[in-house]
Amino acid sequence: RKDFLGLYDASAEEIREILETAVAMKDILTRTVKKVPTLRGKTVINLFYEPSTRTKFSFNLAAKRLSADVMSISKSGSSIAKGESLLDTAKTMEVMGADVVVIRHSAPGAAQFLAENISASVLNAGDGAHAHPTQALLDIYSIKEKLGDIEGLNVLIVGDIAHSRVARSNIWGLNKLGAQVSVAGPQTLLPREIEKMGVKVYNDLDKALENVDVVNILRIQMERQESGLFPSIREYREIYGMNKERLQRIGKKAVIMHPGPMNRGIEIESSVADSSQSVITEQVKNGVAIRMALLYLLAGREVDNENLN
Ligand code: CP
Repeated sequence: RKDFLGLYDASAEEIREILETAVAMKDILTRTVKKVPTLRGKTVINLFYEPSTRTKFSFNLAAKRLSADVMSISKSGSSIAKGESLLDTAKTMEVMGADVVVIRHSAPGAAQFLAENISASVLNAGDGAHAHPTQALLDIYSIKEKLGDIEGLNVLIVGDIAHSRVARSNIWGLNKLGAQVSVAGPQTLLPREIEKMGVKVYNDLDKALENVDVVNILRIQMERQESGLFPSIREYREIYGMNKERLQRIGKKAVIMHPGPMNRGIEIESSVADSSQSVITEQVKNGVAIRMALLYLLAGREVDNENLN
């Protein structure tokens, strides 16, 4: 594969390979010297048209842990602010020697467009409401680490499914690995195509929470609500907010997840986010290992082969 754009066209075997590679990468991160020479001489560019803390910094760190040269570009402070197109920006990076371009963009399909038009590898770090494959992979990795085999697990995704690339990518990946995925949220925040996505759909969160192994709580994406949030924030918190009472009801073995950034006190109470059942901080840690795995699989194998010859 030249590029990694989403889990929609990844096989279960490919997903398993990435997860297994991430185990080896996580082992590197536990060492005293957390750096290997695997991508020495390679250049990774982080091209972020949307804000990011976790994804951008973990791609940065992942590339550095593998000894690649890494640079980050965002809208402000670059010629993107002067109106330079996505393609011209990426081609500029490419002629300066980029081997991998990591892109986050508000337009669905932006990563695919780049992949079709530059020869460097393209890694999708989130394109509009379409896909966020590295987030889903780190979520799946975190579930596996806590509960073992994904097959047969009941995973519930709660909240703003309509605007969520995280939800779509989790659904694609988890379905391929044999989990039973459910979604819960107000009808106004469910996408029209939800019935065709291979998930159980609930409007009643309390019903959806019966027999769950994992509850993945999504951020309400205020910036993507075209005509304001309906129901209101107060109503949403009451009807769909994950609180202490709901946590007690799902049992001690169920795992709580959130991709971040969190709206504490809206979709998730602090008592839930910081509870012993929460793996939210592990998700962030695992993000570095997953991104190291993908950078290695896209750009490191070639280095291995060169070294062998
Ligand atoms: N989960 C996630 O993508 O977070 P950032 O927007 O901070 O990268």
